[in-house]
Amino acid sequence: MGKVTVIGAGNVGATAAENIARAEVTNEVILLDIKENFAEGKALDQWQTSPVNYFNTRITGTTNDYSKTAGSDVVVITSGVPRRPGMSRDDLIATNAKIVKTVTENVIKHSPNAILVIVSNPLDVMTYQAYVTSRFPSTRVIGMAGILDTARYRAFLAEKLNVSPKDIQAVLMGGHGDTMVPLPRYTTVSGIPVTEFLDDETLEAIIDRTKKGGGEIVNLLGTSGWYAPGAAAAQMVVAILRDSKRIFPCCVYLNGEYGIKDLYLGAPVKLGRNGVEEIIELKLNDAEKALLKESADAVREVVDALKAMAV
Ligand code: NAI
Ligand code: 2OP
Repeated sequence: MGKVTVIGAGNVGATAAENIARAEVTNEVILLDIKENFAEGKALDQWQTSPVNYFNTRITGTTNDYSKTAGSDVVVITSGVPRRPGMSRDDLIATNAKIVKTVTENVIKHSPNAILVIVSNPLDVMTYQAYVTSRFPSTRVIGMAGILDTARYRAFLAEKLNVSPKDIQAVLMGGHGDTMVPLPRYTTVSGIPVTEFLDDETLEAIIDRTKKGGGEIVNLLGTSGWYAPGAAAAQMVVAILRDSKRIFPCCVYLNGEYGIKDLYLGAPVKLGRNGVEEIIELKLNDAEKALLKESADAVREVVDALKAMAV
């Protein structure tokens, strides 16, 4: 039934592993961390929830032994340093790029056919790094951000409208940062355009809060969030292993789509057993196109900075 590895047993990695295990889409989840005994401890604690939370998935931990990850179908990479107050996602670039590069090299030695789901920040750039290092087809290297960012947007909308978050559907594009592009024209409440419920000013305030959603949690906790990020990464793994063809905003390699070339950026895609099975091209209006271009330019700037560092 497949095997999943999660690299990084910290806040996001451990939460993703738990969500994946509880979904029972795989027999085996391997949690790997560089910190001595950390993954072993988290995995043992999680495995001991299996009789209570009622799942079969065997979770085991390892300290940096990649042979235990061999033959994984999906590998989630969360290793890295999280954002601290006052730090932008881009401050993390050099440290996390080195970590993502080393981890990717180790992962692909043992799982040459895996699909990689990248979580480490700055997300769009780390996904690009994993793509370059792995030399995998871009359909098998995908970043997680859009599910989290739309989840925040949908949660804020549900709260404002006093409706179930289950009934809010939304698309969001662009980079995982302050230039992300929530798309009110593609936001509905059970199929009803959200613009029929909210005036422009209220909607703008919610969009603004969404863009700063990561920072809002960092300011409250002193580190970035993990419940929503872990659940979002797990949702991608579940869609891939179930071959469910679900459509989610994910960070994917654009090579001409939306007029953008050689860049990892958020766009709506179809996820299945082959990874990215389709990139959906929305007919954006001029204002939306301009916002997407601004976001692409911001991500490209960081990619160029990373290239200049020659990590
Ligand atoms: P954390 O500090 O709780 O966990 C990170 C783990 O990575 C630590 O346990 C650390 O020992 C491990 N690690 C570091 N270097 C490693 C290596 N070379 N090999 C294996 N393990 C290694 O951090 P947290 O909160 O889990 O965040 C992880 C990453 O995810 C950060 O870069 C954070 O910014 C990012 N993030 C991304 C989100 C997204 O939407 N894409 C959302 C939330 C966090
Ligand atoms: C988040 O959006 C910091 O990327 C992290 O929570």
